Amino acid sequence: MSDETSSSNVVEGRDAHLAAAEGALVRADDLTAGYLPGVNILNGCDLYAKQGELVGIIGPNGAGKSTLLKSLFGLVNIRSGDVTLGGEKITNLKADKLVAKGIGFVPQTNNVFGTLTIEENLEVGIFLRPKRFKERFDFVAELFPALGQRRKQRAGSLSGGERQMVAMGRALMMEPSVLLLDEPSAGLSPAMQDEVFFRTKQINETGVTVIMVEQNARRCLQICDRGYVLDQGRNAYTASGRDLMHDPKVIELYLGTLARA
Ligand SMILES: Nc1ncnc2c1ncn2[C@@H]1O[C@H](COP(=O)(O)OP(=O)(O)OP(=O)(O)O)[C@@H](O)[C@H]1O
Ligand SMILES: [Mg+2]
Repeated sequence: MSDETSSSNVVEGRDAHLAAAEGALVRADDLTAGYLPGVNILNGCDLYAKQGELVGIIGPNGAGKSTLLKSLFGLVNIRSGDVTLGGEKITNLKADKLVAKGIGFVPQTNNVFGTLTIEENLEVGIFLRPKRFKERFDFVAELFPALGQRRKQRAGSLSGGERQMVAMGRALMMEPSVLLLDEPSAGLSPAMQDEVFFRTKQINETGVTVIMVEQNARRCLQICDRGYVLDQGRNAYTASGRDLMHDPKVIELYLGTLARA
């Protein structure tokens, strides 16, 4: 954490952040990760989520938000630092292992199989435990009634918002303890964005710990318990969603959309 940022009243120093992370369900400590040799996109990134928390990650385009989520889900190689789940080290485990351990991930794009029906997409989500399909389908259909009613419809014929519900539903099929969502409201109409935020909160209220990346910073900070502002692969600010939302420096530097709201 640089001196520059430590003047803000919402900044926790790294030591305080580490202390607060004690006993968290998921934590990422001092992550360095990237795609190309010699080029780090994450540069010492810390993050934690306590059991039942809804954590938001916001920040400018290219800050490394998707890279952070992908590194938690074994899709980007972590070069140094560690990720733990319930105290167990899961750094660089592959996605299928992480799914079996209770992590669900909804990527930013291409997150449904368009040629498959809603029901088939949800089946794919639980192919590791097919016997639990009905029980989990019923759970998902309760959260997203439209998915149950239209189960035989091909996902490719759905609206963007409906497809997002399918993608979230699919990730929920394995009964994850942690759900990672990458920009679930991106590209949706305002009404569908409202729906996505409402559903995300509802999912969290069923006990699922949620870590959500969002371009819609204002809405994200409104619903999350705690937020991170990511900049250039580091956490620049972290505090409660409410504190971040009202911090003038955060608004000025990172949340142009908030300042206009
Ligand atoms: N597959 C890849 N190979 C090489 N570089 C990549 C790859 N994916 C992302 N990057 C680079 O990593 C950096 C961070 O990208 P990332 O997608 O994590 O940002 P982001 O914060 O999610 O941005 P956005 O708000 O646009 O989704 C960018 O400079 C990007 O060009
Ligand atoms: Mg992204």
